Amino acid sequence: MFNFSALPPLSLYIHIPWCVQKCPYCDFNSHASPDALPEKAYIEAVLADLEHDLPSTWGRPVHTVFIGGGTPSLFSAEAIDTLLVGLRMRLQLSPFAEITLEANPGTVEQGRFKEFRDAGINRLSIGCQSFHDPQLEKLGRIHSGKEAILAAEAAHDAGFDNFNLDLMFGLPGQTVALASADIEQAIKLGPTHISHYQLTIEPNTLFHHSPPALPHDDARWSMQEACEELLGDAGYGHYEVSAHARPGKQCQHNLNYWSFGDYLGIGAGAHAKISSAAEQNITRSWKQRHPQRYLDAVPNTHISGSQVLTRHDASFEFMLNALRLKDGFDKTLFTAHTGLPVHGIAEALAKAEQKGLIEQDMVHITPTQHGWHFLNELLEMFMEEGK
Ligand SMILES: C[S@@+](CC[C@H](N)C(=O)[O-])C[C@H]1O[C@@H](n2cnc3c(N)ncnc32)[C@H](O)[C@@H]1O
Ligand code: SF4
Repeated sequence: MFNFSALPPLSLYIHIPWCVQKCPYCDFNSHASPDALPEKAYIEAVLADLEHDLPSTWGRPVHTVFIGGGTPSLFSAEAIDTLLVGLRMRLQLSPFAEITLEANPGTVEQGRFKEFRDAGINRLSIGCQSFHDPQLEKLGRIHSGKEAILAAEAAHDAGFDNFNLDLMFGLPGQTVALASADIEQAIKLGPTHISHYQLTIEPNTLFHHSPPALPHDDARWSMQEACEELLGDAGYGHYEVSAHARPGKQCQHNLNYWSFGDYLGIGAGAHAKISSAAEQNITRSWKQRHPQRYLDAVPNTHISGSQVLTRHDASFEFMLNALRLKDGFDKTLFTAHTGLPVHGIAEALAKAEQKGLIEQDMVHITPTQHGWHFLNELLEMFMEEGK
């Protein structure tokens, strides 16, 4: 039995499933856009989808909204405005809610960021990946390095004082010097946040079927070390495995995921995780994945599947997320967000501490540098506990 004294904070994720074209490394639920994007029908479906979900979170304020994809910046500012007005009419958005929109530099026409800002978006996340054209071409990106720079400058010009740049490293043909130059360029553009991901080859992608030659492990390790040093020197705190932020500018939406908060998920393939005080349980649910099937399904059947978490699922999933945070977490947070006592994982914690993978005291748990670099080994310990 779970025992919630209060429910975790609530966020909202909205998925926009279309892109100009599919990138060969990407396993997100994203599809090449049809000639005529069904913007209006999709926004109507997403709002109907939200209405179905509302009874599960009745009256709870929403602290963050993340419009991700796919490429949400493909949508017109008018569509995003309709979406945000529709959200405000249907749920209680906190007055200082962080509202992020993901943007691809290849879709940023003159003036569009300003219109997004006027509609109520207060944070952008721009997918630059690299500023070097040979790497961008190998990644199948639709924009040049110059356009990635222009997108960040356009974010400033539109008045966004809070935006993230996504970069990837370990790219085909990339050297340590090139990866470092990407980070230096990103820092020069003055974002409040930089996400730095190692390129992974995911099943069901073009790169999986015909893999490109990648830099070897040692080179990728050196890139990571060199880039993390540059980011640290420039004042970006490394607060999560791939996330670096200026003080106070950590992504609040992702922090809620990493601390096992609750979230609604609307749009094609979106996932939700909701705790219930009445039922004393935690449920995961997900929506129809394919955009057209999603449009056909909503407003009749909107949930495609759901699962009530076992105690083991809840405690493992909490650790899976929270151990990604460099500063770790308070033991009271474990109890508050899983509804479970922390002594249920005491044995695994003791083993992890013995192996030097975490440090703990009465109050707090922190992954060590060693634990963070061998996160999978650390997580395996919690996978076994309580099974
Ligand atoms: C949904 S996309 C961001 C917005 C937009 N779709 C774009 O690509 O410009 C999220 C980010 O995940 C990262 N990403 C996607 N696939 C990846 C992979 N296979 N390995 C590492 N990072 C990946 C990229 O940095 C990408 O910007
Ligand atoms: S633009 Fe972004 S979401 Fe779309 S295919 Fe490329 S990486 Fe994936």
